[in-house]
Amino acid sequence: MALPTINPTTTEAWKKLQAHFEDVKGLHMKDLFAKDANRADNFTIKWDDFYVDYSKNRITDETLKLLLRLADEVNLKSAIESQFSGETINKTEGRAVLHTALRAPKTADFKVDGVDVMPEIYEVKEKIKGFTNEVVNGERKGHTGKAFTDVVNIGIGGSDLGPAMVVDALQYYKNDLNTHFVSNVDGDHVNEVIKKLNPDTTLFVIVSKTFTTQETLSNANTIKDWFLKSASEEAIAKHFVAVSTNIKNVKAFGIDQNNIFPMWDWVGGRFSLWSAVGLSISLAVGFENFDSLLSGAHKMDEHFKNEDFSENIPVILALISVWYNNFFKAESEAIIPYSQYLNQFATYLQQGIMESNGKSVDRNGKPIDYQTGTIIWGEPGTNAQHAFFQLIHQGTKLIPADFIGFAESLHGSQDHQDKLMSNFLAQTEALLNGKTEQQVIAESTQSNVIAFKVFEGNKPTNTVFIDKLTPESLGKLIAMYEHKIFVQGVIWNIFSYDQFGVELGKQLANKILQEFNGSATNQHDSSTQNLLNYYKEKR
Ligand code: F6P
Repeated sequence: MALPTINPTTTEAWKKLQAHFEDVKGLHMKDLFAKDANRADNFTIKWDDFYVDYSKNRITDETLKLLLRLADEVNLKSAIESQFSGETINKTEGRAVLHTALRAPKTADFKVDGVDVMPEIYEVKEKIKGFTNEVVNGERKGHTGKAFTDVVNIGIGGSDLGPAMVVDALQYYKNDLNTHFVSNVDGDHVNEVIKKLNPDTTLFVIVSKTFTTQETLSNANTIKDWFLKSASEEAIAKHFVAVSTNIKNVKAFGIDQNNIFPMWDWVGGRFSLWSAVGLSISLAVGFENFDSLLSGAHKMDEHFKNEDFSENIPVILALISVWYNNFFKAESEAIIPYSQYLNQFATYLQQGIMESNGKSVDRNGKPIDYQTGTIIWGEPGTNAQHAFFQLIHQGTKLIPADFIGFAESLHGSQDHQDKLMSNFLAQTEALLNGKTEQQVIAESTQSNVIAFKVFEGNKPTNTVFIDKLTPESLGKLIAMYEHKIFVQGVIWNIFSYDQFGVELGKQLANKILQEFNGSATNQHDSSTQNLLNYYKEKR
C-alpha cells in the first residue's frame, strides 16, 4: 500500500485545530501551569533512559487531542507500517526506505521486493567488524608494514555528516586512531587534512552512495595523487577502501574488490550512518560501540512502531512541531544540546530535516499552499546562551527549541556538570515564565530601563533528558529525530526521501566549470555573467 495522499488541511482535525488555535493563541503557559498541578506529569513521557518533558509548550489537553486526531486522519499508523514493511514509499525514486533494517536483529523480517535483506545486511556487518578489528588491533597494515594511525573519511552530505557527528559525539569512547573528515570541494579543506597525514600509516575510506559526487571524487583523486607520490599503484589496495552502491565506478577508481563495502538504494544518504557508511565510526570507537549505537536506534524503532501515539516520543514531538509550524507560523526550530559532544548535532539534523521535508509539491504532485519543513539551527548550550539566546528570549520571533541534556557527565566533573545542568534547567524555566514588569521593578531597576528588562516568556521548549551519553543513547536520539522527520512528512503529504532540490545547482555548476576552461559558452543572466567574467579575469 502506498503512503496516503491526504491534504492535511482538508481533515476535520485541521479545521478544528484552526478554530482551537484562535481560542488558545493568546494563552500564557505560566497560567496553564498555575491552573494544573499535574501539567508536567501529564505532558511527560518516560521511556527507557529518556525523560521527555513537553509540558512547556503552548498546548492544552484539547490541542493534544486534536493533534492526535490529525495523526489518525492522515493514516499515520498505516504509513508507519508501509515504511517498516519495505514498501516503495520513496515513490519518486522508486525505492523502499529501510534504514531501520540496518539496526534490526538478524532474525527480523525485512523484505524488499519479496527478498529478505537481513542476510546481506549481516554479511556487511560482519565485514565491518572484521575490518575494524584488524585495523584497530594493528593486524592490517599499510604498504610499508606499519600499522594505521589515521583514518580519513572522504564523503559529503549523508556520507560525511552522520559519521562526522557521531565520531565527535562519541569521542569519549574513541581509540587511538586519529579520524579526519574531508568533504568540501574547496581544495583548502583536503590540503589542510593532508598536512597532518603520513601516507604510510593512513587509511582512506571513500564514502559515496552514487560514487559520482563531484566533491568526493575530486577529493579522492587529489588524495590518491598525493598518496602515489610516495607509493606504487599496488599500494592503493592496502590504503583505500570504499562504501558505495556503485561497484563499477569504485573498481574503475582502482579499489580492490575486497575493499568494497556495499550499501543499498533502499538506504537514503542522510539515513545511512547505520550502514557501512558508518565504517569510520566503527573504526574510531570499535565495532562493539558501533553495534550499540545500532541497538539503541533499534530500541527507538520498536518504541516508534509499537507505542500508542499519545506516549510515542517521535510522534508527539512531530505533532508539536506541526502545531508551531502550521498554526503559529513559526519558521524555525532550535536544537540546543547541553553537551559539547553534540557540537555537530544541529548541523547533522539540518540535512536530515531540511533535505527531507523542504518540499513544496505534495504526494499528488500538486503545489502545496501550507508550510512544510522547518528551518533547523542550533549550537550547544551554554555557548549558545552567550551567542543567540537574546533573540530567543526577547526577539520578535517565536522559536520553539529542543533542549537535550544528559544527567551524568562522562568525565565526572560534578562541579561543571552541576553548573551545566543548572543552566539547562534555568533556560527553559526562563523561556517559560519570563520576567514581569513588577519583578523588574522589585529589583530596584532604574525606571528608564524597566521596559527593556521585561521578558515576555511563553517561549516553547521540549526537554529531552537522557541518563548518559552512550553509543546506545545516541542511537536512540538520532532515530528519534529520524522518525519525527517521517511523521511530519506523512502529515504534510510530501515525499521525505528524495532531494531533487539539490540537482539544479549541481547541473549549472558543471556547465559553468566548462566555461572556465573555454570548452563551452552558455547564456546567463547579466549578474551571473558579470561575476563569471570577474572570476575569469582573476583566476
Ligand atoms: O547533495 C545531496 C546528496 O545527494 C545527499 O543526499 C547525499 O547525502 C550527498 O549528496 C552525497 O551523495 P553520495 O553519497 O552519493 O556521494
